[in-house]
Amino acid sequence: MILIIDFGSQYNQLIARRVRENHVYCQIEPPDISMDAIRELRPEGIILSGGPASIYSKGAPRVDKDIFKLGIPILGICYGLQYMVDSLGGKVIGSQKREYGFAELLVQKQKGILKGITKKTQCWMSHGDSIGALPPGFVVTAVTANTPVAATEDTKRGFYGLQFHPEVVHTREGKKMLANFLFDICRCQKSWSMKSFIHHAVEEIRQQVGDEKVILGLSGGVDSSVAAVLLNKAIGKQLICVFVDNGVLREGEAGRVIEMFKKNLHINLRFARAGKIFLRKLKGVTDPEKKRKIIGRTFIEVFDQEALKIKGVKFLAQGTLYPDLIESRSAFGGPSAVIKSHHNVGGLPKKMNLKLVEPLKHLFKDEVRLLGKELGLADDVVWRQPFPGPGLAIRIIGEITPERLSILRKADTILWEEIRAKKLYYKLWQSFAVLLPIKSVGIMGDQRTYENILAIRAVTSDDAMTADWAPLPHDVLARLSNRIINEVRGVNRVVYDISSKPPSTIEWE
Ligand code: XMP
Repeated sequence: MILIIDFGSQYNQLIARRVRENHVYCQIEPPDISMDAIRELRPEGIILSGGPASIYSKGAPRVDKDIFKLGIPILGICYGLQYMVDSLGGKVIGSQKREYGFAELLVQKQKGILKGITKKTQCWMSHGDSIGALPPGFVVTAVTANTPVAATEDTKRGFYGLQFHPEVVHTREGKKMLANFLFDICRCQKSWSMKSFIHHAVEEIRQQVGDEKVILGLSGGVDSSVAAVLLNKAIGKQLICVFVDNGVLREGEAGRVIEMFKKNLHINLRFARAGKIFLRKLKGVTDPEKKRKIIGRTFIEVFDQEALKIKGVKFLAQGTLYPDLIESRSAFGGPSAVIKSHHNVGGLPKKMNLKLVEPLKHLFKDEVRLLGKELGLADDVVWRQPFPGPGLAIRIIGEITPERLSILRKADTILWEEIRAKKLYYKLWQSFAVLLPIKSVGIMGDQRTYENILAIRAVTSDDAMTADWAPLPHDVLARLSNRIINEVRGVNRVVYDISSKPPSTIEWE
């Protein structure tokens, strides 16, 4: 495995992704990790990440200098390189000018980490400080017009440094450089696959849980579904999944979850039919954040009650993913810890004295999908479009009533059918309908109507941080409009949302 020391760079997760794409396992750890913990991980090599700090500034992150005595290769990237240089007796100089963006890398030594790299290649710089003097034993291996030490090495000790970022796509041959480090320098094996992960994870879960019971809130989304199947493989009937029907699910969703998990996969599944409680509490509420809070709180109450019915539960399983784990513990903070809070079963472990089992906590989303496939989950689950925890409640603008829910459900089902029929479902990040709180005039037959407006939203995205509105083919739009207006009573106008994120968001509330 490769250990990545997190000095706070925005690109850290990208470094980890690049390593794993090469089928080498890696873990990102904070700089205060102890030498004992590092030895226990038995890394084949260490990558010191970039970071926003200046090496001489107060509170600049540092890792135990004994890592340089471990006798394993170390690669410093940007701040990581500066940290290495400073620790080993070289000099880092602050510069007035930040160097940011593309630069031409002039390779002087096509060996080591730069083996097979073109003599003139493009790299991506993002730094203020730079190297003033190298420590004994280091030589320069590449330069740019503004950076006399763009790459350096001490082959005797196996230390390498890059001032630019090999992990971002703008460094054209960055992938090759990282592969050189992993395979030529660290001599890693390509052993990381979802098959090997399953083997280890099953053992680990069994060890942690023993013969105790574990509960898991199953939402039908990718993460909790994959967690359920993995846990089921490891501990079978000791796993009890709880599915909460919050009354704002899609048409037929509850049935689909029962069919898939209980009937097909024989997973121990309890079903809390709590729609009425949720809808009662949501009555008269129009503020989106209030809706979210009510749904979050009520979910915990309902889940809590279900959990209390099961005797002797000791563990709560969650489908936490690696990005959540890294960002929630990062010294530099990350927005996702806050964003995600409403769909975690927060508060429950403390109250019930439950210990957490998080079998996906070292995986990225695409790895979870691969894992799901490897575990035999259908594409339908593995490639499911994200569906927000507060469900249709935030797609009915204004008050949620049974009538409005019914209108949205019908329109949503038509949209789903059409998008699937045209094979667009997996191409879109999300596609859904939104019921607006205004009416407009229409004409049906000889009758004047005054009915609801329904908006269609379809976006493409990689990670929901940014999104583009999808240019759905005109015939698809035409058919959607036609079917919805004809088949859904109460809708006489359909509009298409042509806003991107930012400045808009994906959901309307
Ligand atoms: P926005 O609307 O912020 O959405 O662009 C980004 C992604 O997050 C989903 N989303 C939510 N998911 N609870 C969730 O579990 C929520 O309250 C929530 N709000 C938005 C949204 O569907 C999109 O994928």
